[in-house]
Amino acid sequence: MAILVTGGAGYIGGVTVERLRAKGESVVVLDDLARGHRAALDAEIPFYQGNIGDRALVARIAREHQIESCIHFAALAYVGESVTDPAKYFENNAANGIAFIGALVQAGVLRLVFSSTCATYGEPEEMPIGEQCRQWPKNPYGWTKLLIERLLDSYDTAYNLKFVALRYFNAAGATTKCGEDHEPEPHLIPNLLATALGEQPSVPVFGNNYPTPDGTPIRDYIHVTDLAEAHVRALEYLRGGGASDFLNLGTGSGFSVLEVIECAREVTGREIATRMEPPRAGDPARLIADASKARRVLGWEPVASDLRTIIRTAWEWRLQHPRGYAK
Ligand SMILES: NC(=O)c1ccc[n+]([C@@H]2O[C@H](COP(=O)([O-])OP(=O)(O)OC[C@H]3O[C@@H](n4cnc5c(N)ncnc54)[C@H](O)[C@@H]3O)[C@@H](O)[C@H]2O)c1
Repeated sequence: MAILVTGGAGYIGGVTVERLRAKGESVVVLDDLARGHRAALDAEIPFYQGNIGDRALVARIAREHQIESCIHFAALAYVGESVTDPAKYFENNAANGIAFIGALVQAGVLRLVFSSTCATYGEPEEMPIGEQCRQWPKNPYGWTKLLIERLLDSYDTAYNLKFVALRYFNAAGATTKCGEDHEPEPHLIPNLLATALGEQPSVPVFGNNYPTPDGTPIRDYIHVTDLAEAHVRALEYLRGGGASDFLNLGTGSGFSVLEVIECAREVTGREIATRMEPPRAGDPARLIADASKARRVLGWEPVASDLRTIIRTAWEWRLQHPRGYAK
């Protein structure tokens, strides 16, 4: 019996695979390496380089490895790219995702943990954001995730597929082994660290006229190891017969872009130059989680998600891996 992890060669998937194996779980990874790295995974982990939309491959993996549950990370996840190339997102995250979940159900795999996102809320009507908050995404990426959430709910009713959809806020930080290595890199903290290392001249700040105290957007940063632990617990919860649910994963506190920049300067001890750019389409002013439901349902508590720890661990990983996962 094994757990199928799609997107396990990616950033959050890689850290979750590390965590699952530390708990003694058998893991199989399916990833097309569009955005992931084989080197993020230990060589002995069964690995299939392929697309989640390949139903025959999914059926074969399920059969050969006696897959009993799945953690489904595989998706494209750049908000800006989804605005300029929505077809890529609907085809990959939605169409391939639908084929994938269909193949799983057909193979009798009826436990799934799904990577959803706070981007499904769009411009939130209340703060902090609870799970009952209206979901009306501001970009195609968020719509693809919401579509899969709706599908999961229908499949539970009709086919008894039990799932936990985890709506992450901003994943950040690293372990000693796994860190963030995207090309291009859309996230703030890796860009700050690349600038601290002199790999790029400055970091763009997208807008300083938001209705926040310093005018820059506020986000809820959650350490990737805390996210990984939530997946392990969600799986245990489903194995214990838990009902399907939607859970926010965040800390409940937020930091503005300028606050994150200041903290990165302190942690690295380096100058980090910034430049002002116009606001990005689809960027809400403030996204802060009410994650009390995840605490209650999973008994989960973020333990590594203070901003300094997040930036320090990401910085240590970058210093140890100056070229990311490249040899
Ligand atoms: N990083 C964040 O802050 C954040 C926040 C909310 C939600 N999420 C979600 O979490 C998941 C993981 O995010 P990440 O930051 O680790 O991204 P990532 O890009 O590092 O990892 C995604 C992995 O999925 C793989 N993949 C994509 N499409 C595939 C396909 N069709 N078939 C097989 N493999 C495929 C990629 O190669 C990559 O390895 C994604 O679903 C993302 O939408 C991330």
